[in-house]
Amino acid sequence: MTETVLEIKNLKAEVDGKEILKGINLTVNYGEIHALMGPNGAGKSTLGEVLIGHPNYTVTDGKILINGKDITHAAPEDRARAGLFLAFQNPITVSGVKISTFLRMAYNNLYPDEKMPLKEFFNMVKEVMKDVDMDESFITRAINDGFSGGERKRFEVLQMVILRPKIVILDEIDSGLDVDALKLVSAEIKKMYNQKVGFLIITHYQRILKDIIPEFVHVLKDGKIVMNGDKNVSDRIEDEGYDWIKE
Ligand SMILES: Nc1ncnc2c1ncn2[C@@H]1O[C@H](COP(=O)(O)OP(=O)(O)OP(=O)(O)O)[C@@H](O)[C@H]1O
Ligand SMILES: [Mg+2]
Repeated sequence: MTETVLEIKNLKAEVDGKEILKGINLTVNYGEIHALMGPNGAGKSTLGEVLIGHPNYTVTDGKILINGKDITHAAPEDRARAGLFLAFQNPITVSGVKISTFLRMAYNNLYPDEKMPLKEFFNMVKEVMKDVDMDESFITRAINDGFSGGERKRFEVLQMVILRPKIVILDEIDSGLDVDALKLVSAEIKKMYNQKVGFLIITHYQRILKDIIPEFVHVLKDGKIVMNGDKNVSDRIEDEGYDWIKE
């Protein structure tokens, strides 16, 4: 039986009075990988921000459901508790907050009943850091403070693995990663995929989709999904760009 993890229905959203998302429909079931492609400025990152409840964006119509629960107007932490995770295209620096503090707080917000002892928790964190090839010393650094582009992306993946979401949105996780890091990240995605997590992978490039083959490819143009297809669509975009796809 297919079970839906994320359902987006006729979603419209605006920022500073400008409509960016113009009626998005998208369903992701458990154990599915979807790729979201589209030209610069199409609204891909906006969709991610709207899904996690970024306060700058206003939903003007439509609905967002996770596991059947309406989270359209929920607080960001409630969306996370419902199982949503977004890896940002441009992760920001939070100078005053150490990675260790942040991860522990985020984890306790999601799993308040688990009460995992600190030592056990940080052993788990260190194991995942090895997997994504992040040195242990990062744990005491402030969030993204002085991190290189690739280090920021690795930290997003670290969070993804530790927080065990049900639906993962990766916004250009492949940009800025070296070849070795891309392999590590793909391996982590595959591990989670095997646990039947739903994925929405926003990307411009084939290189991540060669390793992680999406069953579904959607193309967003000017705030609307203008094509739903499979791997053939991303192959053709690689060769021909977006001009052949008309609204
Ligand atoms: N405050 C704002 N006022 C006006 N327009 C905005 C504002 N914030 C974002 N936009 C516009 O929304 C559009 C969608 O941006 P978004 O970041 O979602 O694009 P994208 O599809 O992720 O592009 P890319 O591939 O370059 O990452 C852009 O044209 C952007 O300039
Ligand atoms: Mg973007």
